[in-house]
Amino acid sequence: VAAFGLALMTHTSSTAQVSSKQVIENRIAAFRDMGSAFKNIADELNSGEANLEEVKSAAKVVQNYSVGLPTWFPPGSEPPPEIPRTWSEWFASWFSSGEEYQVPRAENSRAKLDIWQKPAEFEAVYQHFKREADAMVVASQTSDTAAITAQFRKLEQSCSVCHKSFRADER
Ligand code: HEC
Repeated sequence: VAAFGLALMTHTSSTAQVSSKQVIENRIAAFRDMGSAFKNIADELNSGEANLEEVKSAAKVVQNYSVGLPTWFPPGSEPPPEIPRTWSEWFASWFSSGEEYQVPRAENSRAKLDIWQKPAEFEAVYQHFKREADAMVVASQTSDTAAITAQFRKLEQSCSVCHKSFRADER
């Protein structure tokens, strides 16, 4: 039975395995997606005639991502060391505008090692964010634009609190 259990475990973990590079790239893509839902809310609220249905559905998208966020940083998904660029890559980046869509690359990960080294602090800023994301959904179910905007500011603040401590500058 023990041997069978071991074989089963090995089998399960190998099928469930996703490369660290893929985990990092999925994480960056998820942050971008959450970021664009967040920006949709900002754009609506700044338009002066906010489409509250749009705000409500975007708030739900942010909340859905907020649930999974703590699982986006498994051990082994720390940023890889900086890879020296070849001359041609450097040359290509010199000519790209920076505006065009860049495919997420693990080497560009901005996750700070403190995420893995200070798990209690990371958990605390995460819980702060989660509360604001939940409260944003509740606020978005009303038609009180002033209250929705006030809650959006709190949500924005909770994103920044985490970024200040746990997101590095661009690399
Ligand atoms: C608990 C911490 C935490 C919270 C809360 C958080 N972020 Fe981030 N965010 C990060 C980290 C860490 C990264 C860098 C991930 C990486 O590069 O591996 C990041 C990256 C990003 C990126 C950049 C993705 C890219 O293109 O490289 C965007 C956009 C973003 N976050 C938006 C948001 C928004 C909007 C919120 C709030 C609604 C938010 N984040 C809340 C930690 C957080």
